Amino acid sequence: AAAMAEERALAMVTCTAPVNIAVIKYWGKRDDDLILPINSSLSVTLHQDQLKTTTTASASRDFVEDRLWLNGEEADVGHPRLQACLREVRRLARKRRGGSAEDAAPLNLSYKIHIATENNFPTAAGLASSAAGYACLVSALARLYGVEGELSEVARRGSGSACRSMLGGFVEWQRGERPDGRDSLAHQVAPETHWPELRVLILVVSGKKKQVGSTAGMQTSVDTSPLLKHRAEVVVPERLALMMRHIRDRDFEGFGQLTMQDSNQFHATCLDTFPPIFYLNDLSRHIISLAHRFNAHHGRTKVAYTFDAGPNAVIFTLADTVAEFVEVVRRSFPPATNGDQFVRGLPVGSVSLPEELLTAVVTEPVPGAIQYILHTKPGPGPQLVDDSSQHLLGADGLPRRCS
Ligand code: DP6
Repeated sequence: AAAMAEERALAMVTCTAPVNIAVIKYWGKRDDDLILPINSSLSVTLHQDQLKTTTTASASRDFVEDRLWLNGEEADVGHPRLQACLREVRRLARKRRGGSAEDAAPLNLSYKIHIATENNFPTAAGLASSAAGYACLVSALARLYGVEGELSEVARRGSGSACRSMLGGFVEWQRGERPDGRDSLAHQVAPETHWPELRVLILVVSGKKKQVGSTAGMQTSVDTSPLLKHRAEVVVPERLALMMRHIRDRDFEGFGQLTMQDSNQFHATCLDTFPPIFYLNDLSRHIISLAHRFNAHHGRTKVAYTFDAGPNAVIFTLADTVAEFVEVVRRSFPPATNGDQFVRGLPVGSVSLPEELLTAVVTEPVPGAIQYILHTKPGPGPQLVDDSSQHLLGADGLPRRCS
């Protein structure tokens, strides 16, 4: 107990954080440094059983420099956005200590830090998310320094979409009005338990292509697209209000239609950017048509697609539709190899498709185009990992396993 009064020699914290997928998209900043968006956005946080980032943050008087490891490989700790997050968490820690000196074991803010971070999904699949990464970094650092409360503002400095990964369920990132960004924060619209039947299928496409990154892409869009300006000023405010109602009412048809329309408008602003940016390709268009044929066959919106700045498709649907749609995808994109591993994540029942559905929906199959389907659902926000055997760094502050 006497040692508690002194500064700790080594402190270590491990957190996990989720990926999120926007149904009203964020695209465009009004302040590039503070990462302030031109419009509010709304997302669904995905379950960490299927997709998560784990980060261990450690501080010690024995560390001689700040160091960072990503999936076991040492990486540059000097990245300006990472430094901004670190600076902001330390600033909050200092502020908090100024208020009360109640801390049992204050951590010396001048100690160097070691950070290790890993994803539980293959980076090559293009699911690697800066949102989960920065949400996890900020959660772990905040715990390390004993900072509590509003942290979405800090995560936002790492990556805009990261502020939405600081909460579970359905999350709105309000653009805010202030030039200093103090009101540009994430809020939970509804917890993950609000809509238990909602499911998410990620169609991981084969082959990865070099894409224009979000940060550079949206900058060009802000500079050149009049459609983006109209979207931010007129369309998004209306859609946000509507989307919140659909979520509140668990109205899948309304939610699904608006999700597809907003994804399509985001990609329309990319085409309206000059020179244009293309994130959708032939396969994306194939998946879009498939979803519309499926919905038309059923006479209502049963599945909804959305695409971000990469080739993977994300499908929202309800639990009672998963098995049938997965079978439609399997028939439309017959797996080349690994047929048994084609569906991953939450279990999917087996069904045989009625002949008239096959004829109406499964036209011209494209073998091997989709690598696998990941079945998941909405989930909670960042979590503290209590079990110290789960730390990614050993007692010496170095990565435990390099994989
Ligand atoms: C298309 O958050 O990755 O996924 O703020 O520059 O780091 P930066 O961009 P980022 O952009 C995400 C864009 C999107 C839409 C969304 O998630 O809302």
